[in-house]
Amino acid sequence: MNPTPIASIAPPSRRLIIAITGATGAIYGVRILDTLRRLGGVETHLLISSAGWLNIQHELQLTKDDLHARADVVHSVRDVGATIASGSFATDGMIVAPCSMKTLASIAHGLSDNLIARAADVTLKERRRLVLLVRETPLNLAHLRNMTAVTEMGGVIFPPLPAFYNQPASIDEMVDHTVARVLDLFALGPALSPAWPGLRGATD
Ligand SMILES: Cc1cc2nc3c(=O)[nH]c(=O)nc-3n(C[C@H](O)[C@H](O)[C@H](O)COP(=O)(O)O)c2cc1C
Repeated sequence: MNPTPIASIAPPSRRLIIAITGATGAIYGVRILDTLRRLGGVETHLLISSAGWLNIQHELQLTKDDLHARADVVHSVRDVGATIASGSFATDGMIVAPCSMKTLASIAHGLSDNLIARAADVTLKERRRLVLLVRETPLNLAHLRNMTAVTEMGGVIFPPLPAFYNQPASIDEMVDHTVARVLDLFALGPALSPAWPGLRGATD
């Protein structure tokens, strides 16, 4: 008996879910979208929480149209029937940038109480890459425990802390460096962040 024919063995296009929540640092989510658009080849699915919108307007003075134009698909956080709410919809993973402590808690406890938390839940259950640019300071024990829980489930906690070893000349350079490190975790192509060349002579 012939096996059931397979319509196509072509791999699905690369897809990433990007969520922007209400922590300070909306620029990280926006720059990730801009970088993916510039690179091409990745279908972006954008989610923005209500508090995320507040911060986008306050920190970046962008409108909804400005944001929506940067993504291929925009989902309402209330649309728990969206494609990305199901594991059957293949993606390469999800980035929450920035990630508030509230959304971190929701993901850590598997609440799936909006589409951001549900898509993150799906990403973890399907063993896909989940990267959270958590932002708060100082941190209380609940924050730390929630980060541990997400790490134990396979997620990556990636606080957007600027590096100084590359001697950045501007905030833009600091943001771009973090964005490159985040996207490199998804191995979308050649590395975006240059490999550390080592400190020549530093130990002599
Ligand atoms: C200007 C502003 C800055 C904020 N910064 C942070 C922050 O850095 N980290 C954080 O966890 N929450 C921060 N918050 C609080 C969150 O927005 C709030 O907890 C919200 O409920 C998060 O909801 P969301 O995760 O659905 O976006 C900030 C709120 C405002 C208005």
